[in-house]
Amino acid sequence: MDVKFAPVMANASHFPAAIIKAAPAFSLTDFRQFGQSTDFSHCIYTRNGRGAIGLAAQQLMQQNKTNIVLLPAYHCPALVEPFLWLGYEIRFYPVLPDLTVDKAIFSQLLTADVSHCLVVNFFGFKQNNSCLIEMAAQAGKLVIEDCAHALVDFFQQLEMPNPAVTARICSINKILPSIDGGLLYMKQAINATPKYCSWFEEVKGIAFLLKIPQLIQYLKPKKQQALTVSDVNAPIQKQFNYFQPADLDSASFRHTKLIVSSSNLKKIQARRIENYNYLATALTNTGAGQCLYAYADFETPYVLPFLLDDAADFQQLRMQKIQVLRWEEVAYSACKVSEDYRSRLIQLPCHHKLKKTELDTIINAVKGLVNNK
Ligand SMILES: Cc1ncc(COP(=O)(O)O)c(C=O)c1O
Repeated sequence: MDVKFAPVMANASHFPAAIIKAAPAFSLTDFRQFGQSTDFSHCIYTRNGRGAIGLAAQQLMQQNKTNIVLLPAYHCPALVEPFLWLGYEIRFYPVLPDLTVDKAIFSQLLTADVSHCLVVNFFGFKQNNSCLIEMAAQAGKLVIEDCAHALVDFFQQLEMPNPAVTARICSINKILPSIDGGLLYMKQAINATPKYCSWFEEVKGIAFLLKIPQLIQYLKPKKQQALTVSDVNAPIQKQFNYFQPADLDSASFRHTKLIVSSSNLKKIQARRIENYNYLATALTNTGAGQCLYAYADFETPYVLPFLLDDAADFQQLRMQKIQVLRWEEVAYSACKVSEDYRSRLIQLPCHHKLKKTELDTIINAVKGLVNNK
């Protein structure tokens, strides 16, 4: 099937700079503990989550056969593009309103010609993934589990990997305050060694993390363009909007590994659950929409998925300097939920560094959507 992504709906440059950010900012106090005892022997660091997906897909390609992958119809293009680059045929499976998947439909799509299947832990929640993984593995498919939003779960699973999963990936900067980073775990040995950047690039990366160039730009009232993270990871080729072929053989920054090994994941998990539940409790019956999941329990939420009654409210929240995200560029498919969610399902920040006053700002902004109509 030919893949065509829907266009962007809201232009980020029309919004004021966000004050409440979707991801936590780095501070030196983050370095608290060193030398975690996680076994990394089946893991490698990649530049980002999409690089880890691409590397898994590359390692698992079957020679002299058509590689056909089943992907969820609701997604961001960054998870689809690596497969397109590698020449996979893509088929989408539909999702239900709570982002679980109908088992009967999924089973019908596991036809003999399908070789691979990717399952996503949306927003840090597991949906009915264990069941899908078992079904796909029993049907003889190579299963990639996408934990881009579930770094803590990714680490927990390293201790007792599910044998039905052939490869798992995660994205580091969705949860931790780094500027890049992905991880790939594979059941089989990984036959690739992503390269580190030069030490000069590393130093530039650290300066960017510490916001030094941003501060210099801010102090200089010049017409020069602000440096962005993408300048630090300068693109070599741009064929896709998100994935770059160089992602396949690039490691993360070395200091990103240090951030991972020095982060207190238990504490981060507890704070994120606390923040999620604080928001979710306050956001019931606001009249503006509903939380997709009423509470977080043992999972580590990446964001709080909130289904707006009125899609135009996304703009209102962005105008209030809250970095609300939305997957607008979902590929066209027969899935009605994905088509609806590209405008109505928004992602509210709930990261572990948000203060109570910031959580209250988010709550008041959502409540205000109704009062201001
Ligand atoms: C579900 C999912 N998978 C993979 C990715 C890619 O992760 P990264 O941004 O680290 O490349 C993303 C984010 O864009 C994502 O949301």
